[in-house]
Amino acid sequence: MPDLSSLQRSTRRLDGLVAVVTGAAFGPKAALGAVFAAALSAEGASVVVADIVDAEPVAEALREKGGRAVAVTVDVTEEAAVEAMAATAETAFGRLDILVNNAVVGSNIPPVPLAELDVAAWDQVMAVGLRGSFLCAKAAAPRMARNGWGKIVNIGSTTMQEGLPNRLHYVSMKGGVLALTRALARELGPQGIRVNTLATGLIANPAAGAAFTAKPELITKIRAARAIPEDVTPDDLGGPLVFLCSHESDAITGQFIVADKGAHFT
Ligand SMILES: NC(=O)c1ccc[n+]([C@@H]2O[C@H](COP(=O)([O-])OP(=O)(O)OC[C@H]3O[C@@H](n4cnc5c(N)ncnc54)[C@H](O)[C@@H]3O)[C@@H](O)[C@H]2O)c1
Repeated sequence: MPDLSSLQRSTRRLDGLVAVVTGAAFGPKAALGAVFAAALSAEGASVVVADIVDAEPVAEALREKGGRAVAVTVDVTEEAAVEAMAATAETAFGRLDILVNNAVVGSNIPPVPLAELDVAAWDQVMAVGLRGSFLCAKAAAPRMARNGWGKIVNIGSTTMQEGLPNRLHYVSMKGGVLALTRALARELGPQGIRVNTLATGLIANPAAGAAFTAKPELITKIRAARAIPEDVTPDDLGGPLVFLCSHESDAITGQFIVADKGAHFT
């Protein structure tokens, strides 16, 4: 008779764990980071809500629902600021177990052909998405290693699978994020740290307004191409994120996990 006791779930899957989510203010487009912070908080994690703009309204909303959360203003491209962000997890909550690298610029910019893509735009997208993910992992990993366990989830994009044209900087940055995920998974695995990419496609967030509704014919086409022909909303990503941050996914590392209602198969 197998021992089934390990299958009995505690009421909340992240009780006692501490998470940092970057780009977690109410963002200009999908506000995925705020949804990620809320999903982790609802499962019991204490959350450092980090962003380059004021993230206090998100932290306050989590506390009002009974969660434990602090806001940190950080530019993820600045090493000293990122180190201070990671230290805040320990001073506020005593440890750091989970890092969600979500901060980005470039997910909501208009298409730019190669000839018009300037170096400053390329560098900014790379700095926030790729250097920022590297710096956050660098600050978080030793703190996770002290506990012999940790989860890093890098937020990816299916534009990287498609090779979406006219967004070379964004698509290339997301390719780098996947490579970073795989190399970190091998490097940090011996310390018990799991590293995965959670990717999706165009997120429907009517609350964010014009960016999503500007091209209804494009939205209809994208919806129809999905195995489940529906929009993907920010809330659709909360469950997969919690899974990748919990012990339930401890056998999964170095992977590209797509939650896009079947537009892309990996
Ligand atoms: N929105 C989509 O359709 C979509 C699709 C696939 C993947 N994604 C990915 O999901 C994640 C979130 O996307 P989103 O659409 O919610 O983005 P968003 O633009 O709405 O939010 C990004 C957040 O990052 C913050 N940020 C920007 N620069 C920063 C810096 N230097 N330091 C700290 N924070 C900084 C912004 O202030 C903002 O709150 C990104 O990684 C994005 O690539 C989004």
